[in-house]
Amino acid sequence: MQRPSEKAVAARLVLQVLAGTVGELACPPAGRVREREARGAPIVVAAEGRFESGRKIGSDSKTSLREGDEVFGQVFGSFAEFALVPVKDLVKKPASLDFKIAAALPMPALTAWQAIIDTAKAKPGMRFLIHGASGGVGSFAAQFARWKGAEVAATASEPSFAFLKSIGVDPIIDYKRERFEEKLRDIDVVLDPLGGDTQARSWRVLKRGGMLITLIGEIDEEAARKAGVQAVDFGMEYDVDDLREIAGLVEQGVIKPHITTVLPLDQARQALDLNQQGKSHGKVVLEVR
Ligand SMILES: NC(=O)c1ccc[n+]([C@@H]2O[C@H](COP(=O)([O-])OP(=O)(O)OC[C@H]3O[C@@H](n4cnc5c(N)ncnc54)[C@H](OP(=O)(O)O)[C@@H]3O)[C@@H](O)[C@H]2O)c1
Repeated sequence: MQRPSEKAVAARLVLQVLAGTVGELACPPAGRVREREARGAPIVVAAEGRFESGRKIGSDSKTSLREGDEVFGQVFGSFAEFALVPVKDLVKKPASLDFKIAAALPMPALTAWQAIIDTAKAKPGMRFLIHGASGGVGSFAAQFARWKGAEVAATASEPSFAFLKSIGVDPIIDYKRERFEEKLRDIDVVLDPLGGDTQARSWRVLKRGGMLITLIGEIDEEAARKAGVQAVDFGMEYDVDDLREIAGLVEQGVIKPHITTVLPLDQARQALDLNQQGKSHGKVVLEVR
């Protein structure tokens, strides 16, 4: 495998990738993954690894990282054995964290953290409805809300129930058989990674003054106004300090990434299919080495 050229952009490091994940493109309309693949755009959302050489490329790169350090972070272009990574995007991996666990954190855990902790300000007495709570973002979101002492209801399908029970979600509503809006009322915050019909049915479960956070950039402001709730069109901002804090909680065993499948890099296609067809029921990790 060819290494990236050292004439690359300043303040980047050559990283040997050891694991990556599939997930951010899970729920959008079918076709988006294929479109991006056809254009050859990087579609990887997270990766972690170890410096291949530790050499800094470019004179303006300042880092306390050293050759051999184990790092993780969000890396575009990491369905590969080597990646060029901006130094500022890397965090030292806690020694006790497995690479596959660290790979599962950056995109979904940061998104969940900023939505549940920073935006919704989860605390005891609050009631959340997390749609897709077994998925990459949802599984962290449910755990962060529980960690802050809030109650969590969730929608998921049957293969995900055991995991959701284990993290204290109650009730769990099977979106394939039941209508959540017939079972829930007075919810403070809905996390919506789906939009469409799910969002349309979510307004009525919220209490007045509540909040709906959409992850997909689609929000019905008029419906929010009628329901008397706040509509938040959420976008994650990559933040290495948040990532360090999350990694600490995972290291302590407080938060558990929900990894259901680990595949070798040469099965990236199957990993994407599993995810896009809704058959992963949790995070799919790609083991690169
Ligand atoms: N705005 C941002 O900054 C941001 C950041 C990250 C991700 N996102 C977006 O967030 C979305 C979710 O990403 P993800 O990585 O968490 O996806 P994911 O890991 O594929 O999870 C999707 C989950 O949705 C569940 N699901 C499918 N249909 C459902 C339905 N009708 N009702 C309730 N649950 C349903 C599935 O549950 P079961 O397995 O139990 O069937 C699955 O686990 C994507 O659209 C992604 O693009 C946005």
